[in-house]
Amino acid sequence: MPEDAFSEEQAAAERQQNEEKKKAAAERQHHDEEQAAAERQHHKKPLLSVRSLCKYFPIFKKGFFRKQVGQVKAVDDVSFDLMPGETLGIVGESGCGKTTAGRSILRAVAPTSGEVIYQDNGIPVDLAKLSEADLKPLRTKMQMIFQDPFSSLNPRMTVRDIVSEPLKIHGLASGKAMEDQVSEILMKVGLKPEHRQRYPHAFSGGQRQRIGIARALIMHPSLVVCDEAVSALDVSVQAQVINLLQDLQKELGLTYIFIAHDLSVVKHICDRIAVMYAGKIVELAETAALFDSPKHPYTKALLSAVPNPDPDIRMNTELIGEVADPGNLPSGCSFHPRCGECFEPCDSVRPSLVSIEGGRTVSCHLYDKKYTESGISA
Ligand SMILES: Nc1ncnc2c1ncn2[C@@H]1O[C@H](COP(=O)(O)OP(=O)(O)O)[C@@H](O)[C@H]1O
Ligand code: SF4
Ligand SMILES: [Mg+2]
Repeated sequence: MPEDAFSEEQAAAERQQNEEKKKAAAERQHHDEEQAAAERQHHKKPLLSVRSLCKYFPIFKKGFFRKQVGQVKAVDDVSFDLMPGETLGIVGESGCGKTTAGRSILRAVAPTSGEVIYQDNGIPVDLAKLSEADLKPLRTKMQMIFQDPFSSLNPRMTVRDIVSEPLKIHGLASGKAMEDQVSEILMKVGLKPEHRQRYPHAFSGGQRQRIGIARALIMHPSLVVCDEAVSALDVSVQAQVINLLQDLQKELGLTYIFIAHDLSVVKHICDRIAVMYAGKIVELAETAALFDSPKHPYTKALLSAVPNPDPDIRMNTELIGEVADPGNLPSGCSFHPRCGECFEPCDSVRPSLVSIEGGRTVSCHLYDKKYTESGISA
């Protein structure tokens, strides 16, 4: 046999072996994911139970007497459970209330009403009602990662000072112990201990986001709210940071709320997705179910903007008009002025969240048996 033919045969065999290895790895990952989902189902107690959460901002009339003339219903009657180790996505256009929901849950702003029940080592506490003093020790367990690492990192502070700041605020470490913790967390997020002396401007966007992640995780939180954490990054860097967040979740047992306006981003990291419109959750479902068969017309419209190579799944529902103003909401269903499926009750009756098959919930009259003969379920 000529030497060329032999090496080609060998190369083909190696290629086949590599393909088989890749297939086996993909099957293993699929199995791991199924197992994780089954384990989640078996967890009886959610880490977080959000009930009827509202955050209204007052609108004041300009002038000498600051009279309140209305309110911005940024978050309006939001409820969901979050299981330990789960990643829940919150998606919706800009202005839908995602950030305010995340900030209200972590008590970065005080909610107007509602409950945020957090299991603190098996003891349920309502974060919405705790005093600042009682909240302080719990703050170490809940952290936020922000969109723009450049504006959220003080340019005049070194990486060491930025990352160790939460430890100092809570008086948890100093001296060598602090230096060691900073080095350890920097390595965990893919940076180097010698980066401690540098300033944020010396890093790329992806590296700066890693610094932000290190600062959030140095306190060993259990709940992390990632608010558009990868939205400002290039697609390839986005994938690296998402992989890092997933690895850290497994290693450190983290539970995530992952906020994004871009559905293609949440697809790869979230177990379930809550779609928000005008301060309310309009649909909540397992990620695969939401992508395969979205129910709410708003979800369908959001998904139509996500490129999908499968023509059966590709949607053709264009999102028209402006997002509803939470300071002056339309009557009935807030989405009705933009909805292609709007019918008789939609402009006068506000839909409520109803349960449909597969443990999903949706807030739309199309799925309410009261308004449809048999209730639409597909
Ligand atoms: N401090 C505030 N005072 C008044 N209105 C606010 C405040 N913060 C947010 N809002 C309003 O609440 C709504 C939801 O905002 P936000 O939570 O930032 O939405 P998202 O993160 O989905 O873009 C918007 O209309 C926004 O203008
Ligand atoms: S309730 Fe009516 S207007 Fe609102 S999303 Fe459903 S069909 Fe559209
Ligand atoms: Mg936001």
